[in-house]
Amino acid sequence: MLTQYLYISTAPSLPRDEVDAILAASARNNPALGITGLLLFNGRNFLQLLEGEPEVVAALMERITADPRHTGVSVLDRRSVSARTCPDWAMKRVMITESTGTRREMLERDLPGGLDPEVRKMIVNFALLN
Ligand SMILES: Cc1cc2nc3c(=O)[nH]c(=O)nc-3n(C[C@H](O)[C@H](O)[C@H](O)COP(=O)(O)O)c2cc1C
Repeated sequence: MLTQYLYISTAPSLPRDEVDAILAASARNNPALGITGLLLFNGRNFLQLLEGEPEVVAALMERITADPRHTGVSVLDRRSVSARTCPDWAMKRVMITESTGTRREMLERDLPGGLDPEVRKMIVNFALLN
């Protein structure tokens, strides 16, 4: 069994290159850790899905929670999954665009098919917030 976390956090004025640096660290570290997932940033808040071996993902959650680039980490969901829902994504960035209509289309196209419907709904709802 793997553990999957879904959390949101706040980062009101984080420069874009810091978001890129976070994705670069994820690309560097996550494959060796066996961590997969996705990261959304809307300019003020992050939403991240992380999945992997229970102890590994819990340790990464601790490291991420202590990261001063964001605050207010709130876990929306934590569950056991028998298979990865984001098998091909060391950490995929899902772009948040201007129009919410386009966002919905992009999410329907880009989100992995294996997500639990309830988890998928939480991600889509976050992405449709302004
Ligand atoms: C919103 C957010 C998401 C992050 N996601 C990851 C991640 O998936 N993997 C990772 O290794 N670091 C992630 N980080 C960065 C870690 O907090 C930490 O800076 C990094 O793991 C240190 O890696 P390094 O020792 O290779 O520089 C994230 C940070 C933030 C603020």
